[in-house]
Amino acid sequence: MFSITEIFAKSCRFLVTSGAALIISTAMISHASAADTATTYNNSCAACHDSGALNAIKKGDRAKWQQLIKQKGMPALVKSVKNGMIQMPAGGLCDNCSDDDYRKLIEYMSK
Ligand code: HEC
Repeated sequence: MFSITEIFAKSCRFLVTSGAALIISTAMISHASAADTATTYNNSCAACHDSGALNAIKKGDRAKWQQLIKQKGMPALVKSVKNGMIQMPAGGLCDNCSDDDYRKLIEYMSK
């Protein structure tokens, strides 16, 4: 038979465990957006911007990206992706990206 103190100790341990799980899931949610940019990049933009296929500026070519950002400005670059370019399909293969997502993806590629 369980005594009252044993039951109390068991439910306390349960509360501590579920509290820890809550902290872990909160931490995962707050890191989700950075991970999402990498995932979206891999699923959409990487096809061309990883290898430089079709003359796309490569991810990590900091000098070229910085020059382009300075020349055209971020809003114009976001617009280019949304409308498409000569070789780049409109939206860059990301159907559900917002302007902010595109901005993050461009910053991600320029590092
Ligand atoms: C099918 C290949 C392809 C995919 C997929 C692609 N791009 Fe591009 N991108 C290009 C090419 C090629 C260029 C160079 C311009 C041109 O010739 O169209 C370019 C140019 C750009 C530019 C420069 C625009 C400018 O105004 O000079 C940006 C910014 C860009 N891409 C962002 C992205 C982002 C963000 C994604 C993913 C959501 C993406 N691209 C996906 C091929 C691609």
